[in-house]
Amino acid sequence: MLTLKSCINIDDLGRLAARKVPFPVNDYVEGGADDEVTLKRNSDGFGHYQIVPKALQDVSSICTKTHVMGCDIELPFYISATGFSGMMCPTDAELAGVRAAAKFKTLYTASTFSNRSLEEIAQASHSDKLFQVYVLDDAELATRLNQRAKDAGFKGMVLTIDTIVGGNRERDARSGLSIPPRLTVKSTLQYMLRPVWLFHYLRGDGANMGNFPEMPKVTLGDSKAFVEAMSKLFKKDLTWADAEHMIQQWGGPFAIKGIMSVQDALRAKEAGASAVILSNHGGRQLDCTPSPIELVEEVRQAVGPEMEIIVDGGIRRGTDIFKALALGANACSLGRAYVRGLSAGGQAGAEKALSILEAEFKRCMILAGCSSIDQIGPEHVRKIGA
Ligand SMILES: Cc1cc2nc3c(=O)[nH]c(=O)nc-3n(C[C@H](O)[C@H](O)[C@H](O)COP(=O)(O)O)c2cc1C
Repeated sequence: MLTLKSCINIDDLGRLAARKVPFPVNDYVEGGADDEVTLKRNSDGFGHYQIVPKALQDVSSICTKTHVMGCDIELPFYISATGFSGMMCPTDAELAGVRAAAKFKTLYTASTFSNRSLEEIAQASHSDKLFQVYVLDDAELATRLNQRAKDAGFKGMVLTIDTIVGGNRERDARSGLSIPPRLTVKSTLQYMLRPVWLFHYLRGDGANMGNFPEMPKVTLGDSKAFVEAMSKLFKKDLTWADAEHMIQQWGGPFAIKGIMSVQDALRAKEAGASAVILSNHGGRQLDCTPSPIELVEEVRQAVGPEMEIIVDGGIRRGTDIFKALALGANACSLGRAYVRGLSAGGQAGAEKALSILEAEFKRCMILAGCSSIDQIGPEHVRKIGA
């Protein structure tokens, strides 16, 4: 029987997660937009690169420390923004991930759409954290959120720009999943097949909008008012001027998440962002885009050595992280690799995901002949067919 202990890689955690949460929730996590071409390409993209080991280096001691988004971290990867964690972990929601990240001395990114409030998330650990924002239509609400994130002590801001409208996620349409989950004839059986999950979900705050207490709290079976209120939140005429305004307003480390071209990376630099997160939202928004890993080399060449590049999408192995760094990234951020752990076992599952990737990454460093992050360079990677 598969247990947290017997999981040896991220795919195992995915299999365990599928047994722990109802199928519509698991499909919400694992699914992508349209034909899921981008979802698949994000992971497959890593397969286009080979790792070139450097022989006979002294790798008796390994250091994985790095500095990103103004923070010193122990690992060159961290937890990306994932909203509504109460669906995956009804008991602790986001707090499970925050605590897991703190144990590994890496960053946690709190989503605007967290079930717990940003203040509660900030207080859940002493480690550095990032706050992810969407551009909200209500300027006053946006300014208030920015100030709350500052007051709560978040170190960096991440602006997600690829969600002007929701992606066409057909798995959700088929399963009848809504956010928060709604009881339909179709979904009821699925939820009842996971009684432990259902028990905690009904008692927990998976349907809370932690950062928008004014929004209605809903229960399974009644999400209409909630969905209506949410759809009014987004600013549809978002432009670079909005991004520039937010960068100035924040005044600290600022990443734009959802950059998928050299031109936009250069525009983000001009706007004053300190980092770009190469991301297509894990293939959940626009289908048929390139994979983030395929863009790293050209974006690094264009933006120069100072701007931080974070690779987000498809990371399932320590070797994926190594390849991203070798191509010029400063760090990687994890979506599903972390969420699978969270669904599989709450905080312990999230820690398991981080520990698997940590062990794989360190082993990869040793075998490739690198004892510190700054020793990982372009000579360690080779594009197939190049
Ligand atoms: C369940 C789930 C929820 C997500 N919620 C958010 C969110 O609230 N804000 C955001 O910027 N990105 C969100 N994302 C996208 C992730 O931050 C990240 O870009 C993506 O998952 C990376 O791809 P990967 O899952 O292959 O690692 C979410 C992704 C998943 C799987």
